[in-house]
Amino acid sequence: MERTFVMVKPDGVQRGLVGDIVSRFERKGFKLVGGKFITISQELAEKHYGEHKDKPFFGELVDFITSGPVFAMVWEGENVISAVRTMMGATNPADAAPGTIRGDYGQTVAMNIVHGSDSKESAAREIKLFFAEDELISYDQTI
Ligand code: CMP
Repeated sequence: MERTFVMVKPDGVQRGLVGDIVSRFERKGFKLVGGKFITISQELAEKHYGEHKDKPFFGELVDFITSGPVFAMVWEGENVISAVRTMMGATNPADAAPGTIRGDYGQTVAMNIVHGSDSKESAAREIKLFFAEDELISYDQTI
């Protein structure tokens, strides 16, 4: 079964949106197999966002993601990587459709509430970066 890495960014945590975001993915039928608050270190931020290191906004991106706690999660389900991206909406909240997380709550491209892996390769890399194997929980979701 496919897995993806999702995190509620510092703006989403501070605005009390963790529950709403978890609820959207639960109601969609995805399974939460890992979740924790962490304050991201400079080193972890630079690794996580390594592909953007040459972009002009890299410094701002690292400063923001390390500015307060994030809620990091691993979600499991059929086609969960692309479905989560659809449910998050466009990266820039100004372009994100109503009904998506960023369309409903996002303010700026930097403060866009939520991050989700963009491919199978990113998902595997990001899950490993944020979670130890024994932090991912296996349980039946049959009720
Ligand atoms: P995310 O999905 O976390 O992946 C990379 C992030 O870079 C993206 O969401 C945006 O929040 C951020 N980003 C993209 N473009 C800009 C920009 N022009 N200025 C600041 N941050 C940006």
